[in-house]
Amino acid sequence: MIHHLLDSSEDLSRRAAELVIDELKQKKNLLLGAATGSTPSGLYSRLAEAAETTPGLFSAIRIMKLDEWLGLSMDDPATCETYIRTHLLQPLKISDDRYLTFHSNPISPTAECRAINDMFDTHGPIDVCILGIGVNGHIAFNEPAGSLTPHAHIATLTQSSQHHPMVAGRGGNPPTSGLTLGMTDIFRSRMILLLISGSAKKAITRDLLSQNITTALPASLLWLHPNAICLIDREAYP
Ligand code: GLP
Repeated sequence: MIHHLLDSSEDLSRRAAELVIDELKQKKNLLLGAATGSTPSGLYSRLAEAAETTPGLFSAIRIMKLDEWLGLSMDDPATCETYIRTHLLQPLKISDDRYLTFHSNPISPTAECRAINDMFDTHGPIDVCILGIGVNGHIAFNEPAGSLTPHAHIATLTQSSQHHPMVAGRGGNPPTSGLTLGMTDIFRSRMILLLISGSAKKAITRDLLSQNITTALPASLLWLHPNAICLIDREAYP
């Protein structure tokens, strides 16, 4: 992984959008792995603008959801599903046949993980994977642990993940589990863009930049990926 410092979150979003669009120009039916949360919103807005100015740019792109809160209904405003539909599918006019997703409230989460793995085997790997980082160092919902999991799995969410703004305002008990692609699934991506923005990420960015590779900070494994680019804005820079 290499890293770049950007002056602002706007610059970070603009640079990330340029990188995605450059890749898209080389592969029209590129499979984009899409993180959710506050960090990639600016990137997705830039892509929405590009869809307006360059009709047809996204006519073959495919999107894959990386993770999800387990136990919420699909149309809950807090789901990654709702986020991706609002930030990507609607503005880029992506039909459901170009969207690889999974259920947020499946009857059997274990069977859903098997279905995700089958879907990944058929349609993967991801070409460009957009990642954010949790304040605890998670990527997607691969949470810090003594060992990590290669493929789709049920994640037990740490306290900090349970308090993520996406679900914090819902009232009631936060989800305690998630569904997520695993580390190998993410690592098979041809290109990874790790986006880090905002002062809340300063401490974890300091740890990440130490280049100490540990499963206690899942994002640190990205130092081993041959084509990962980490964009950090000034507010997040330690
Ligand atoms: C969330 C999501 C991740 C996301 C991360 C950071 O819980 N599961 O996919 O990248 O945490 O989110 P944010 O960018 O809002 O800080």
